[in-house]
Amino acid sequence: MAKYLMMRKVSLFSNLIRNMSKVLELIIERRSIKNFNKNFKISSKDIIKIFETIRMSPTSFNLQPFKVYYVSNIDIREELSPICWNQDSITSSSGLLVWTVNKEDYLRNYYIKNQIRWLADGNDNRIERVTNGLKIVVDDRKIRYEEWAIRQCYITLGCIMPVIKELDLDSCPIEGFLTDKVNDVFNKHKVYNSKNETIALVCAIGKRLEEQNTNFLKNKKRLPMEDLFKTI
Ligand SMILES: Cc1cc2nc3c(=O)[nH]c(=O)nc-3n(C[C@H](O)[C@H](O)[C@H](O)COP(=O)(O)O)c2cc1C
Repeated sequence: MAKYLMMRKVSLFSNLIRNMSKVLELIIERRSIKNFNKNFKISSKDIIKIFETIRMSPTSFNLQPFKVYYVSNIDIREELSPICWNQDSITSSSGLLVWTVNKEDYLRNYYIKNQIRWLADGNDNRIERVTNGLKIVVDDRKIRYEEWAIRQCYITLGCIMPVIKELDLDSCPIEGFLTDKVNDVFNKHKVYNSKNETIALVCAIGKRLEEQNTNFLKNKKRLPMEDLFKTI
């Protein structure tokens, strides 16, 4: 009886918070889809909405230190498949969002300097403040600028996932790729120059296969609240 009451309490609680936010509902409902409908093509209108979400996402010092390519070309995706752990989503999705960042030296000596100058409208005081602020952040975290840039890509990934769900589309973030080999493929196809640029993150987008296991879609395993949070 006590167990039943406890379960009922949890279910009432999750219904209550679900009703409080449309975005929360989308986050709860979305899943990382492994098998997509090969015949489905995302409209260019929806692609623009996803791009705009990435563009409007927050980044450290507002520096947006990445580029995003949308790879729908199936020949390139087939070439990528074996170097992305042969994941079905690479070729069955409508396309791949591919984030790249500049490599360390180019990022520090060229991209960040230019971007700070642009953001600060050439104001020397502001340029110095942001340059020093960013240096303090990366030094304190003991990371390279390249790693700091990759972290910014993940923020935008978090922002697009509920938006993709709201568009009645599906997504699967992908870290399962071989960096150097993927860079070689994009270099060969002249997508970017891998001397200065490197892949950071991938997200497959499209429409899920309806035949996909419905249990998988429903059973979302997460740690209980009390293991994750503490208010002090
Ligand atoms: C940064 C990141 C990288 C991921 N990489 C992969 C991947 O390479 N392949 C894959 O099938 N799923 C990948 N996932 C999906 C996770 O496995 C998934 O988010 C997790 O199991 C929770 O499931 P859910 O997203 O359906 O709620 C990745 C997720 C994140 C956030």
